[in-house]
Amino acid sequence: MVGLRRAKTILCVVLVVMATTLANGAKMLKENVQDEDKDKQSQGCGESIDVKASGAKGDGKTDDSAAFAAAWKKVCEAKSPSSLIVPKGDYLVNTLEFKGPCKSAVTIDMNGNLKAPSKATPGKPHCGWINFEKLENFNLKGHGAIFDGQGAHAWKINDCAKTGKCNTLPINIRITDLVNSKIKDIKSTNSKLFHMNIINCKNLTLEDIGIDAPPESLNTDGIHIGRSDGVRLVRSKIKTGDDCISIGDGTENFLVEDVECGPGHGIAIGSLGKYPNEKPVKGVTIRRCHIKNTDNGVRIKTWPGSPPGIVSNILFQEITMDNVSLPILIDQVYCPHGHCNKGGPSKVKLSDITYRDIKGTSASKVAVKLLCSPGEPCTNINLSNIDFKYTGKEKGPAVSACSDVKPKVEGKMEPPACTEKAKSDT
Ligand SMILES: *[C@@H]1O[C@H](CO)[C@@H](O)[C@H](O)[C@H]1NC(C)=O
Ligand SMILES: *[C@@H]1O[C@H](CO)[C@@H](O)[C@H](O)[C@H]1NC(C)=O
Ligand SMILES: *[C@@H]1O[C@H](CO)[C@@H](O)[C@H](O)[C@H]1NC(C)=O
Repeated sequence: MVGLRRAKTILCVVLVVMATTLANGAKMLKENVQDEDKDKQSQGCGESIDVKASGAKGDGKTDDSAAFAAAWKKVCEAKSPSSLIVPKGDYLVNTLEFKGPCKSAVTIDMNGNLKAPSKATPGKPHCGWINFEKLENFNLKGHGAIFDGQGAHAWKINDCAKTGKCNTLPINIRITDLVNSKIKDIKSTNSKLFHMNIINCKNLTLEDIGIDAPPESLNTDGIHIGRSDGVRLVRSKIKTGDDCISIGDGTENFLVEDVECGPGHGIAIGSLGKYPNEKPVKGVTIRRCHIKNTDNGVRIKTWPGSPPGIVSNILFQEITMDNVSLPILIDQVYCPHGHCNKGGPSKVKLSDITYRDIKGTSASKVAVKLLCSPGEPCTNINLSNIDFKYTGKEKGPAVSACSDVKPKVEGKMEPPACTEKAKSDT
């Protein structure tokens, strides 16, 4: 890599010298042509800033936060596309803010690992440890870099799943207001809270992402997304103690493809309807996924007694499940630990939802449960080629339960659709 970079720099210098020589030798050239040449030169010769040159040690012990901040400032202020280079090593860092807007496109070439302090210092609500914010044409090349949140201590003191009162531990990686950007080949481990939050992004691709936390880590959702349009998550592996992927309000045109999930709580749209003025969730495709040893496979959850909301144009396709409790679930009476207002049905409207080519084993008898809202029954729900076997301890085959929905069934349907009435377990 270093050799290649040096070669690029040399080439760049040569080009500048050549261009300058040419420009000098051809003074009769029209001025606008020279200006164009200058633009091309400045685009081709961005800076490469090495964090070690800014004082980072990368020894896993020294706090390298200030060195990262200094290097980022230089890269972000560069007038032509530039790179922040992180050589191999383990960098102990506190909160880092890779924040724009920057003057030009920025690439981070991350060859080393980042490590958080293990002490759990509460911050502002929804704060992040590593933050990417307000960037356009941003590119993170991870080469397998590990973002280690060192969360084991935090999980012991974090009981927000039980109390509903979450403390303010940092999210491992917080991605806000990114446009036309790409994040590739990074791994988030042992986050103190959620691993990755994606909010307010447009046209963002996440590729080869790894999420790894043990099943006992509470509230460590893998990837949460909300208020974003055109995000793609492809070729990723998520193992965690909560939802692998949770899709919040205002998510449009979200693609999840070739993702493995488990252990964890599966892939979820919602929960929705907890707050007023939530934006619709529209155009979500989850396909070619493998879900293993999880509670729930693919689910949509909305709170009872909710304000109006919309979930529409959702496609779940080619999903294989292994030992999953409740593989296909719509729960419009979502009420964890009794923290909900049961004064009325959910007003979140679910429509145009297709489940196609979904198969595997169910660890609970109810393999398909569509519990829609009596206040806003589900419409246009299609089930096509569904095949589940029950592998738990009770006798008898898998069953499918429905209420306030009349799904359209096509192809194979095992267990047969709506053999019993769906009831809320809360
Ligand atoms: C989306 O972002 C990528 C960079 O990741 C860029 O190459 C592409 O042109 C963008 N697409 C649109 C429609 O802007
Ligand atoms: C099935 O999944 C559960 C977690 O939901 C796990 O505890 C159990 O070991 C798994 N069984 C097999 C056979 O993998
Ligand atoms: C679902 O089935 C209905 C009724 O046949 C059909 O009109 C609709 O296009 C189907 N939706 C999808 C997304 O396949």
